[in-house]
Order: sequence, then structure tokens, then C-alpha cells
Amino acid sequence: MKNITTKDGQSADLIGENIAHMKQLFPDAFSENGLDFDVLRQLLGDASVLDEGEEKYGLNWHGKKKARQIALTPSMGTLLPCPEESVDWDTTQNLFIEGDNLEVLKLLQKSYANKVKLIYIDPPYNTGNDFVYSDDYKDSLEHYLISTGQKKRDGSKVSSSQDSAGRRHTKWLSMMFPRLILAKNLLSQDGMVLVSIDDNEYSQLKRLCDDVFGEENFRNSLIVRRRVKSLNVQFAEEGLHSLNVGFEYVLVYSKNKDLLLNPLRFKKKEVPTKGSWNVFWSGADRPTMRYEILGFTPETGQWRWSKEKADEAIRNYQTYLEGFSNKMSLEEYWKQNGEKLKFIRKIEDGKGKNGGVQYWIGPSETTLRTSNWTDIEVSQIRKDFDLPFENPKNVSLIETLVDLHIDKDALVLDFFAGSGTTADAVMRLNARDGGKRACISVQLPEPTPEKSEAKKAGFLSISEISKARIKLAGRRLNSSEVGFNGDTGFKVFKLAESNIRAWNPDRTDLEETLLSHQEHLIEGRTEQDLLYELLLKRGVDLAVPIETREVAGKTIYSIGAGVLFACLDPSLNTDEIEPVAEGILAWQKELDPEADTHVFFRDSAFHDDNVAKTNMVAILEQNGITHVRSL
Ligand SMILES: C[S@@+](CC[C@H](N)C(=O)[O-])C[C@H]1O[C@@H](n2cnc3c(N)ncnc32)[C@H](O)[C@@H]1O
Repeated sequence: MKNITTKDGQSADLIGENIAHMKQLFPDAFSENGLDFDVLRQLLGDASVLDEGEEKYGLNWHGKKKARQIALTPSMGTLLPCPEESVDWDTTQNLFIEGDNLEVLKLLQKSYANKVKLIYIDPPYNTGNDFVYSDDYKDSLEHYLISTGQKKRDGSKVSSSQDSAGRRHTKWLSMMFPRLILAKNLLSQDGMVLVSIDDNEYSQLKRLCDDVFGEENFRNSLIVRRRVKSLNVQFAEEGLHSLNVGFEYVLVYSKNKDLLLNPLRFKKKEVPTKGSWNVFWSGADRPTMRYEILGFTPETGQWRWSKEKADEAIRNYQTYLEGFSNKMSLEEYWKQNGEKLKFIRKIEDGKGKNGGVQYWIGPSETTLRTSNWTDIEVSQIRKDFDLPFENPKNVSLIETLVDLHIDKDALVLDFFAGSGTTADAVMRLNARDGGKRACISVQLPEPTPEKSEAKKAGFLSISEISKARIKLAGRRLNSSEVGFNGDTGFKVFKLAESNIRAWNPDRTDLEETLLSHQEHLIEGRTEQDLLYELLLKRGVDLAVPIETREVAGKTIYSIGAGVLFACLDPSLNTDEIEPVAEGILAWQKELDPEADTHVFFRDSAFHDDNVAKTNMVAILEQNGITHVRSL
């Protein structure tokens, strides 16, 4: 029987474990000083903390609590499907969503929570008036509809980025904070987030990301080369105020600290012809890796490889010495054997901790990427990009960034999509390595400036440019030259007010209010509009295949192989109840779904005929479908 040691007798560190769990769930409630109970209360839905004085420590700015509240306030919007603007609507897994990313991220919370593996964003750098957002946390959808001309203003001022420089960081942080909180919820456990930024907001963004994702999940600040347009040559003699900025950053965070990045390699400028011998001992301290090698066992540190691998490398070198060293160099022998063999030797005068044991590194054409990415330029050069968009990111840069995630089937999200570079990069990378990554792009239909090149070319908004670019990129990849036959489609959705009218009584005319709420679905919306709102509310992926069947002249939709059925026709008469119910039952039997079936109807389709409604429910219930709901 094993004896109980003093250590065994200690109780588990329950408090430590609890704190670790809390930290994982709510990293932004922790700072260097420990847990902030006010923040935790707010994250758990207690909005009263908003009135209880200012924040005390950590990264703080006026309005931080409000900004967090924005993330917690549900959206009143929906995403309307636009098959006519899409490519390969029925089959594609890619989405292009037109709208304010704050609202869109809220709407995606149910369907995409823990599903996105890589988020890349290139937010406005806050160089002046370069961002459009809402700081009205009570109704940011309303703001969106007004600022995109979908609703009339009531005369009140619409918030914009124009403000005195003093509030610039504050406003930028308040814009970014709720979006990052919402984005984090969408990340899978092996997810990562990459954010482009320059000197203007680098320090704010670093601290904000530490807050949102947890400092322990910070991976790297990559530096990427910026093309310097006008060197300060003419002023150089008088001395320079500051040097031209030659690079910008990409901040890399993971959702969890266990995530392993893809070890990317790149081609060396000069390929060495000779290999090199290096010390086989390392200072890292693993006692199990301190075994005997060529008569020496280290007392501290460790060997680099397992004993098995090291023994094989010793044998390889002996074979070379005995049979080949008089005929060829070690490099030639290594090449002849497919550049795979490892070698270990012991030099005679080996002393100290490493006993003179060395391992050989072959002459490689490539080298491991570090955080210095100045071999890649940050922006796409104009001649390679034929659409009127200022400074799109270099597609090769984004391709390499996406490649940092090991999963070749990763779902990627860019919610500051701009011209759609990330969607393009995802398709290119798939074409290169056979991956099946999909991309969700979100872009505001920001009007293009009057007299701009984009306007002259007929693009009324930036999202029009993005869609045109993604289409073009897909066509290029499909062209015979590249011959890619992967997914180059995308489903377009547009942010709009929910199909379900909000209960908003006009107290001066209650009768009219009541009458207008008899039909609580917004007029003019299609069955597909309702269907996709239903999917969002039920947490179903928007790229899910949807099957349809006509029964008694009504369209029935089946989603998830019979887990969800919907008949959203505006009218179901008494004589149509039975055939529709029978049609659904027959289809459900054929599909034989693994989970419970849910069926949805449009409430007003029953024309206030409670008997018809009860009949529909009764027929379905008698046959085992108990989840029947109306919208
Ligand atoms: C710096 S650009 C991104 C450029 C992009 N990486 C490319 O390569 O084309 C930022 C984009 O975010 C968009 N944007 C700004 N605020 C937004 C918001 N609230 N929702 C969605 N998009 C927004 C802007 O219209 C702009 O196109």
C-alpha cells in the first residue's frame, strides 16, 4: 500500500482551482490586483454597477463600463438572405454579411459560439476620422439604420468619429471593446485572433487584448514591413522630428494557452551549403531527459531528443563514418538519404554540463518564421489590385497569417472585411494546400465618398467593392490556369430590423397600436427572411443545407435532416391543416432524425382560427412531434 506523504495530506487547492476556472471564463474581470467584483457582477447581468462610480484599476477609460454593457445588450436585428447577390447559394460555406459588425457579432452569438478557429481583423487604425460606429448602447441597430440611410433621423445628432483629439483613444477603445468581447465568444477552444494595428493604437490595443483574452494568451506581436512612400530626404540635414515608420504590427492571441501554432517556414535569401554541429544539451530542466549518451549523463538540464531518437542518430553517424566518410561529405550523405537522417557525435575535449555531445543541423533552404515578418509587405501594391479601395492588405500576408492555424478546415472570420482580402486569402490557401477552410466576412455598407474613384466606378458602398472583389478572386482561382475546384462561393446576408415587430405601444393611440400588432411580423418580409431569423434564434449555422418540398401548395423546409421543419406560408386554411401535417410527418419518418424534431409555423397563417391551430398541434403530437411553435 502506498504511504501518505505530507504532500498527499494537503487538501486540493480548491480556491486556486476556482480562480483558474473563473479566469478562463471571465478574463476581463481580472487584473493584476485580482478579481474585480463589479466587472464580474456586470458580466453576470447586473447592470446596476453602471451607476456605482468609476473603475478603479487596470486599463480604464471613461465609458468602459458602458462599452461592456453594449456587448451584453441583445440585438434587435436580423440577417436577411440575399441569394440574388450571392454565388453558389445552395452549396457554399462562405458568408458575406453586410452591416455594422457590432450588431452582426451579436446576431452570430448563438449559431457560431465556439466554432470560429481564426479571427483576423484590420480595424480602423484611428489615424483621424477613419471609423464609423455607434456609441449609443441603448439602440445601436437604430443608429446603424439611420446612418446607412435605411431610416430617417429624428433631428438628433448621430455619433461619428469627429471629436477632439483628447477623446480619440477613449472612443476607439469603446468601439473595439464590445466587439472583441463578442468575438471571443465565437472562438473555439483552439481558436486564435490576429489584429492588425500601427503605432497610433498599438499600446491601447495590446492592453485591451490582455484584458479581453487574458495576458497569458498573448502569443506575439508580429512586425510587418510598410512601404515608406516619401523618405524624409529633403529635411534630413536639419534633423528629423521622427523617423519614417517602416513597419506595423499584427497582435496574436489564442483563446487558450495550450494552442500550438503551425511552425511556418520561409525561404532563406542565401541557402547554406554546409550543415553545422551544435550542443545537444539544453538548459530546460526535465530529469527524464537526462539519460546516458556516449558515456555521459548530464546532472542538470536535459538532452534535446528522446533516448530512442538520440540512439538512432548515434548509429547513423557511425554508419557514415565507417562506410561513407571516405567517399563523400556528411552533407552529400544526408542529401542521398532524402535529407531525413539525424546525427549525434561526441567531441573529444567535451567538458562541463554537455560532455561534448553534439547534434547536426543540415543545410536547409528554409528557416522557421520568427515574429519578424518584414519580408512581407503589409499592403497590396496597386498594380496587382484592380478595384478602387485604398490600401487593401497584402493577400499573401493574410494567407500566411491564416496558415498559422494548424487546422486546414478552419472557420475564419473577418469582421472589418474592407475589400475582402481575408476571403480571397482563405480561398487561395485552400487552393494551395487542399484545405476546406470557410470564411465569414462582415463589412459595413459604408457609402463611398463623393467624387471618389470608387463612386465614379459605380460602387455606392464599400461592401459593393468587397463583393465584387471576392467574386473576381473566385473566378480567377477557378480559371483554367489555377484549376481550383474548391468553394469560391459566398452567401450574402444584410443586417436589418428583426422580422418580428418589437412591442412598442403608442400611448396616444392605443387602439391603432393594438390593431397593428395583430400581425407582429414586419410587412414585406419573405419566407426565407423568417426562416433565417429562425435559424439564428435557434443557433443553427447559416450555411446549413436547407431542403424544401411542396405539400398542398405550401413550401415546407427541412433543416438538419429533419431536426427542424418550418412552414412559413402566410396562410393555412382549415382544409390545408391535415395535408400539411401529414406531409411533415411523412418526411420526418423518411429522414428519421437522431434528435427531437421541432416544427415552426407563422402564427398569423391560422387567421385567429384556434381550432385549426389546435388541430395542427394535435396531429403532430399524436405522431410524436411535441415541439410545435408559431412565430
Ligand atoms: C482598414 S479597413 C480593412 C481593410 C481590409 N483588411 C482589406 O484588406 O481590404 C477597415 C474596414 O472596416 C470597415 N468598418 C469600419 N467600421 C465598421 C463596422 N462598425 N462594421 C463593419 N465594418 C466596419 C470600414 O468600412 C473599412 O472597410
